[in-house]
Amino acid sequence: MKAPTSYRRGIPLFYPKTEAEYRRDLYERYEDMVLRQSALHLADDYWGKYPMHAVLDFAEAHYPKEEIQHILEIGCGVGRWIANLAQRYPTASCWGIDYSYQMLKQARAFWVLGEEITIDLASRGLPYDLKVQGEQLGNLQFGLAKAANLPFEENSQDLVLNSFLLDRLDNPTKALVEMYRILKPNGKLIVLTPLNFGQAMHWKTYYPPVKIYHLLPQIGFQILDWQENIIIHEPLDLHDNAVTWKCLGFAATK
Ligand SMILES: C[S@@+](CC[C@H](N)C(=O)[O-])C[C@H]1O[C@@H](n2cnc3c(N)ncnc32)[C@H](O)[C@@H]1O
Repeated sequence: MKAPTSYRRGIPLFYPKTEAEYRRDLYERYEDMVLRQSALHLADDYWGKYPMHAVLDFAEAHYPKEEIQHILEIGCGVGRWIANLAQRYPTASCWGIDYSYQMLKQARAFWVLGEEITIDLASRGLPYDLKVQGEQLGNLQFGLAKAANLPFEENSQDLVLNSFLLDRLDNPTKALVEMYRILKPNGKLIVLTPLNFGQAMHWKTYYPPVKIYHLLPQIGFQILDWQENIIIHEPLDLHDNAVTWKCLGFAATK
């Protein structure tokens, strides 16, 4: 694994993000993004059920039955999915990679340091002082890097995951090529993504989803599962306001 260029409060930075890049990055916004993601992913009791359970439901069928050594989530946000995997495979070394330091800081505080975090989203109709208790997972680490340039060796990962990432990227193809590079032969990639691209040219290149279906074998992947209509309801508050996402889910191997 590559050495980090520096550390910020215990988080290895594998990419030297500049001040201008921090300022431009929406995901560095604590109130809008980190608290919102925390409410969504770290407060199941509050919603009655994990709101994004469809991601885990799709992935379940593709988890290796045997013990595995290296698991990586890219664009892990506050770390819910990779933490689940760290609990499921306690002998595996698990990494959550994200480009947002603020997301990683929250993820590490909750899943590695076991802190109690406060999610105050009263302005969105959520109660004050929503407090959730973290856990101390010894086999989980978080680091800052870009999806298109990961700090892992070629053929090193047994399982690579990402959700709600691909359509956010400047260059989804480059990121997929990078995922292929680091995956072990016979390793698995599991992806869930809405196709809600932010750039006009991406709609041309990647939509309809059959274009991604043809792209994956060109990179070298063998597709194992392909589902274009996974519906996810993301709650916005406790008053039945929600966003509905139609997601593509696929699993592939190298
Ligand atoms: C919409 S959130 C999804 C978070 C989580 N995976 C989920 O399913 O809710 C997108 C995440 O991807 C991260 N991200 C955006 N661009 C990235 C990049 N180039 N490399 C790595 N992570 C990135 C953001 O910082 C953010 O945490």
